[in-house]
Amino acid sequence: MKEIDPARVPRHIAIIMDGNGRWAKKHAMGRVLGHRKGAESVRVTVRTCRRIGIRYLTLYAFSMENWLRPEAEVRALLQLLQEYLDGEVQEMMDNDIRLVAIGSLDSLGDPILTTIREAMERTAGNQGMVLNLALSYGGRDEIVMAARSMVGDGLAGIIRPEEVTKELFARYLYTTGLPDPDLLIRTGGECRVSNFLLWQLAYTEFYFTDVLWPDFRERHLLEAIVDYQKRERRFGMTSDQLTRT
Ligand code: FPP
Repeated sequence: MKEIDPARVPRHIAIIMDGNGRWAKKHAMGRVLGHRKGAESVRVTVRTCRRIGIRYLTLYAFSMENWLRPEAEVRALLQLLQEYLDGEVQEMMDNDIRLVAIGSLDSLGDPILTTIREAMERTAGNQGMVLNLALSYGGRDEIVMAARSMVGDGLAGIIRPEEVTKELFARYLYTTGLPDPDLLIRTGGECRVSNFLLWQLAYTEFYFTDVLWPDFRERHLLEAIVDYQKRERRFGMTSDQLTRT
């Protein structure tokens, strides 16, 4: 495999971690074991991203739609998240990783909410990489939340309609302060966005792989980055314009 160019790694990678259930079925195991194995891929991916100089990593860990899964599976997913945070915060400290989270976090309830808040506070000063977990997250829900909050500010006289721009709107989103993703990876063979970062993915490069998330390892991540580095990002301009800038 061609090596990645360390000087041109994506600044922000977002990942839709799909295929845990199918992996479990393939190995004649229950779905929860697939998620547990998926948590190992999370550990490997975070470590690799930090090592190769990725500045922001966003993981779609629990979608708004995931609440509709059987209660036992929802409980197991939240439990895995709790175990992950309990076990990894020290490693985040050791590796200068800051934890942030986006989504309707309050709906997660305690004890997980307190664990997330404490982990965010403890890692707040770290500057090597931002690990952003999307939890109880939905892209359309995020846009509606932002619009609601903006209308509130409008009615309170804080902003006027003519002041509303793309930049101002983005400040009302959960992702305020984070750059848009450069590369979106989706594992598990499906080629869709599934209500993930709908606003933020406007100019993102997409990479889809059939590899199921529990099988996703360092070489798969590096393959995605090599593929990304072969592409030319034009942001609506022509190639000639880009070579001139
Ligand atoms: C999709 O697989 C994956 C999820 C719904 C959850 C992702 C969660 C993890 C990887 C584990 C815990 C996370 C952290 C951050 C420790 P699926 O169940 O939809 O798979 P399928 O499409 O094959 O059924």
